[in-house]
Amino acid sequence: MTDTSIKIGDSDYPVLSGTVGPDVIDIRKLYAKSGMFTYDPGFTSTASCESALTYIDGDQGVLLHRGYPIGELAEHSSFMEVSYLLLNGELPSGDELDKFSYTISRHTMLHEQLAQFYRGFRRDAHPMAVMCGVVGALSAFYHDSTDISDPQQRMIASHRLIAKMPTIAAMAYKYSVGQPFVYPKNDLSYAGNFLRMTFGVPAEEYEVNPAVERAMDRIFILHADHEQNASTSTVRLAGSSGANPFACIAAGIACLWGPAHGGANEAALNMLREIGTPDRIPEYIARAKDKNDPFRLMGFGHRVYKNYDPRATVMQKTVREVFDALNVSDPLFETALRLEEIALSDDYFIEKKLFPNVDFYSGVILSAIGFPTTMFTVLFALARTVGWVAQWNEMISDPEQKIGRPRQLYTGPTERHYVPIAER
Ligand code: SDX
Repeated sequence: MTDTSIKIGDSDYPVLSGTVGPDVIDIRKLYAKSGMFTYDPGFTSTASCESALTYIDGDQGVLLHRGYPIGELAEHSSFMEVSYLLLNGELPSGDELDKFSYTISRHTMLHEQLAQFYRGFRRDAHPMAVMCGVVGALSAFYHDSTDISDPQQRMIASHRLIAKMPTIAAMAYKYSVGQPFVYPKNDLSYAGNFLRMTFGVPAEEYEVNPAVERAMDRIFILHADHEQNASTSTVRLAGSSGANPFACIAAGIACLWGPAHGGANEAALNMLREIGTPDRIPEYIARAKDKNDPFRLMGFGHRVYKNYDPRATVMQKTVREVFDALNVSDPLFETALRLEEIALSDDYFIEKKLFPNVDFYSGVILSAIGFPTTMFTVLFALARTVGWVAQWNEMISDPEQKIGRPRQLYTGPTERHYVPIAER
């Protein structure tokens, strides 16, 4: 993968090319040869690994999963099929998809004792706190799939995580509203099962609305994977020490919770609620541009996309479909559309290439379906679990992988000696 090199100081370093996207300078020997580190807080110019899962062209607003454009997958595929694609590298045949979906459905139930875990939380605990705790605790129950050197155990753990996240998420919601847990019903689709566990009650039959089921499945597809984002990098770094997959995914959930990352969907809807009506948009646009104001337009901007996030395009279309299916409307959607229109015509946003991202419209849909804002990032984590486990498996199987251990630029005191307190 290399035929050129670049000279740094007296040494040449190979330039590696992928199948598409920027070349990389292989600096693995830089410190040994030059005695210097690179310096790249936030890893804005650093490739942490080689991956064949997802490609993003931020300038063109392109997102490919194993080569397939996200728009085509969102239109024609299903979350189970995209999950198979991410894990195995190819779209499944009909039989392969049926077998995979059946395998996942065999793992949807939780160990009954895990239900006790929820009772330790306050009812008003943020469900992301519950997710961190319960997912991390899975490693206390599934000892037979924590040997990461065994590919079979890695795949069972991956299937368990993909299958159980909807159950764990729905239970977190039920616990927060004081309703009984609803067990999985495996003759339903992945999305339909989740909707029933979340909104169904033992007192009556729950009818899955096909349009909402389709929208939920598409929202899962849009959140499935996204290259080396902060939470995926967290999962990879945790996994590089040999930690078990349940602990690694719990670490990813914790990182995703941040408002600069997956927590932005909750923050974006709260921002739209605070703005309220379109006449107040200019005030918030001005605040977003004000260097002295920490306020940022939540759901706008992206480290990689310097064009429209292709997921936001699909999300906006899905808002209209869900509104039509539920025969509802939401003035916040009009506010969101107007906010986008004003921001995208403002020099500040144009110059800094700030566009709506996946989190800008998702909250409007999730709210229309009936989820409280505190559940928005939980749904992001539910869907991203397949991407996390696929990236984790890819890392474990990579012969080049070793424990992640960055260095630093030290700016603290040089060596000095202890002074007894009486002499200070
Ligand atoms: C996700 O990485 C991924 O792939 C993540 C994700 C995934 O699928 O995993 O796509 C999911 O996390 C989407 C992003 C959700 N976050 C938000 O919507 C929060 C609001 N956005 C920002 O905080 C910000 O845009 C980030 C964190 C998303 C990206 O930040 P960067 O790449 O570090 O860019 P930056 O902070 O250096 O911003 C560049 C400039 C700055 O101005 P200057 O200092 O150059 O003058 O743009 C400004 C920023 O102040 N800016 C914004 C802004 N985002 C950036 N100004 C106002 N509003 C914003 N939203």
